Amino acid sequence: MNNSEISKPKGKLGVLIAGLNGAVSTTFIAGVLSVRKGLGKPFGSVTQMGTIRLGNRSENNFPFIKDFVPLAGLNDLVFGGWDIRNENCFESAMEARVLDRSDLELVQEELEEIQPMPGVFEKRFVVNLNGEYVKKAANKFELAEQLRSDIRNFKNENKLDRLVVIWCGSTEIFLTMNGVHSSLSMFEEAMKSNHPDISPSMIYAYAALQEGFPFINGAPNLTTDIKALTDLALQKGLPIAGKDFKTGQTLMKTVLAPMLKARVLGLSGWFSTNILGNRDGAVLDDPDSFKTKEESKLSVLDGILQPELYPDLYGKYYHKVRINYYPPRGDNKEGWDNIDIFGWLGYPMQLKVDFLCRDSILAAPIVLDLVLLMDLAQRCGFKGIQDWLSFYFKSPMHSAGTVPEHDLFIQQMKFKNTLRKIMNEEPVTHLEEALS
Ligand SMILES: NC(=O)c1ccc[n+]([C@@H]2O[C@H](COP(=O)([O-])OP(=O)(O)OC[C@H]3O[C@@H](n4cnc5c(N)ncnc54)[C@H](O)[C@@H]3O)[C@@H](O)[C@H]2O)c1
Repeated sequence: MNNSEISKPKGKLGVLIAGLNGAVSTTFIAGVLSVRKGLGKPFGSVTQMGTIRLGNRSENNFPFIKDFVPLAGLNDLVFGGWDIRNENCFESAMEARVLDRSDLELVQEELEEIQPMPGVFEKRFVVNLNGEYVKKAANKFELAEQLRSDIRNFKNENKLDRLVVIWCGSTEIFLTMNGVHSSLSMFEEAMKSNHPDISPSMIYAYAALQEGFPFINGAPNLTTDIKALTDLALQKGLPIAGKDFKTGQTLMKTVLAPMLKARVLGLSGWFSTNILGNRDGAVLDDPDSFKTKEESKLSVLDGILQPELYPDLYGKYYHKVRINYYPPRGDNKEGWDNIDIFGWLGYPMQLKVDFLCRDSILAAPIVLDLVLLMDLAQRCGFKGIQDWLSFYFKSPMHSAGTVPEHDLFIQQMKFKNTLRKIMNEEPVTHLEEALS
């Protein structure tokens, strides 16, 4: 790829969000609007605040990522999307109680103008919610047609040049891939016959890809993992990325586990528990939705520790993850980790982590980065699964036969080297000083 071939981010970039009125979405939108007005800084956004080293360390060349790669500017973003609650984004942001009223009032007018389109919803997939503001049609294929028409109208009405679609909706129940997901034609047939294994998030992803736009999955749902949709992305030449934003406890896990492995310290148990009181917590209180999240959260340790290579160190560890719905905390999640480790001659030690985080404050900058980077990926002509964006996900999508990388620092290196490659710079291998 020659950087002169990358089309510049001219004009407006639409951001269509499924789950527009959720805590993550409204915190993201209100945050971008505030940053645009100079009311706050986009802390946590690597594209906005991070730098990238070019050349040898001694060259002291560390441009900001946003100055190095051609990303859309924050003023060019136009927000819209769907929800199953008919509220404007100001009302929803107030209800989410993530950002303070005094901060939200400074962008109230803009937030009030952002209204959701009715969503595609089926209660079976999120049993703890009721969809009151939903599309109706004879079958799931027709629902997809309605979403496609929403996307076209949004693009035309807002005179957009480009668009990215992202799922920030609730976590759906656990599903595994089966025959109806195995090819595009089977999938389309299944939509027409209202097959129960076609979830709403899949219908949004299908609509986005059919309309020619990248799709990001921020939740642990199966969604674009299915062959029908990865094939569709490849066929249409579009990037897809997912899944499940890597924010609090898993972020910590993918930092601490590589440290244990780097020093070949053993692990006998890792117990993770959380209290969370927002709507996401209420949804995850349903065992079938929690199972989807649990699978996503459990996968990281084995991926990093490779017990098959290190049976003495990691062959027998016990790993448990719990999420407890506890309304008084709202979005301010508290996550505890108790980690039982062992060292020299097997002597036991313990690590305790108590992370008093804010779920949506950690997720909002990830949404911003992913939207900008997927728009970049599309302009670079990247198609299919974007595993260089694993850095942002708990459960990175990967093609059949490849093993996902979970170690945050390897993911970061891959991410930055991809940006270097896009811009025809040498990858940083950290070898040059050692070998010179
Ligand atoms: N906050 C984090 O740190 C974090 C991290 C990783 C993943 N996630 C995931 O991101 C998603 C959003 O989290 P949140 O805290 O904003 O949750 P939330 O409950 O506040 O928001 C979800 C929104 O999706 C809407 N929704 C549900 N089904 C829908 C459908 N079929 N179509 C359109 N809208 C629909 C809901 O009405 C709600 O407004 C969840 O799946 C969550 O698991 C969040």
